[in-house]
Amino acid sequence: MRVLVTGGAGYIGSVMTEVLLEGGHDVTVFDNLARGYRDAVSAHASFVEGDLADTPFVFQTLKQRGIEAVIHMAGVALVGESMEQPGAYYRTNFVAGLSLLEAMRDAGVKSIVFSSTCAVYGVPEATPLEEAMPTRPINPYGESKLAFERALSWFSAAHGFRVTSLRYFNAAGATERSGERHDPETHLIPLVLRAAAGTRGHVTIFGDDYPTRDGTCVRDYIHVLDLADAHLLALQRRDPGMDIYNLGCGGDGHTIREVVDCARKVTGRTIPTVIGPRRPGDPPVLVASSEKACRALGWTPKRDRLEMIVESAWRWMQLRDVKAGA
Ligand SMILES: NC(=O)c1ccc[n+]([C@@H]2O[C@H](COP(=O)([O-])OP(=O)(O)OC[C@H]3O[C@@H](n4cnc5c(N)ncnc54)[C@H](O)[C@@H]3O)[C@@H](O)[C@H]2O)c1
Repeated sequence: MRVLVTGGAGYIGSVMTEVLLEGGHDVTVFDNLARGYRDAVSAHASFVEGDLADTPFVFQTLKQRGIEAVIHMAGVALVGESMEQPGAYYRTNFVAGLSLLEAMRDAGVKSIVFSSTCAVYGVPEATPLEEAMPTRPINPYGESKLAFERALSWFSAAHGFRVTSLRYFNAAGATERSGERHDPETHLIPLVLRAAAGTRGHVTIFGDDYPTRDGTCVRDYIHVLDLADAHLLALQRRDPGMDIYNLGCGGDGHTIREVVDCARKVTGRTIPTVIGPRRPGDPPVLVASSEKACRALGWTPKRDRLEMIVESAWRWMQLRDVKAGA
């Protein structure tokens, strides 16, 4: 299949590109490099530098490359930043997304898999989270993603789009080639590993008085390769309509302290932690029920042990440091 990966120079997009190429697909990455890296894109993929807000250019790219399906991963994804700059979040996640949909409609490309987020749920009433539970985002990041999901459902109804929206929980881990390098980095596993590597003094744990098994927040970490597998399955959809799936490993999730302990074990290093105040809007527990994705897509996370996820991220960091030193 000829697939366009928007945001393919970013963390999850670069892994998605790798997996698509391994599966024999023809991949075009479309990215404005605002938060991505040119060298994260495999040499076996075509690269188009551009902004999704530029509808005529997106249309031209879809047409010229004969694109059959779009995996839409481009976006901005920092909760704290979204509270300070809601306009930028609506502009990128909603307005630029809409521009992509209009270009797709005009080019006759009807298949799309979208990177959504558990932030659409807000503070859950119960866990594990199921797709039918209420969506009440508590920040512009989640709100802008939910607004785009709703636009997708109308495009599906009006234009026969085949839509799969995948609500990721905490993406983590790496391949040997591609890993997480956000700037600024706010995700726990890379931060913990930087502390292990000594490039950061300590890791702050935001609150240790939550009603959880060790007082720290519980989150659901999913290996980025397992996420990519779910997209491959979603691409096979042939009927018009829209489906939404949670993607996480479920179970009991992992507390922040458990992640730090796991990283200590994997790296054999000391990882200093400091207890800070709770962050506003951090729910005590965010764990997915991915039963629907397992049932309907035939998906199962194969790398669901936390050690595997942390080990892969650590290996990638070390290989990157070796390359940088070479
Ligand atoms: N990382 C996670 O844990 C997580 C969790 C839930 C959802 N998501 C979603 O998954 C997607 C990918 O996340 P990531 O961690 O790889 O992010 P990332 O920041 O590494 O990648 C996003 C990419 O999108 C590109 N981009 C942004 N605006 C663009 C535009 N207007 N036109 C073209 N390219 C543009 C950036 O340059 C970047 O390369 C995002 O949409 C995010 O909201 C991520």
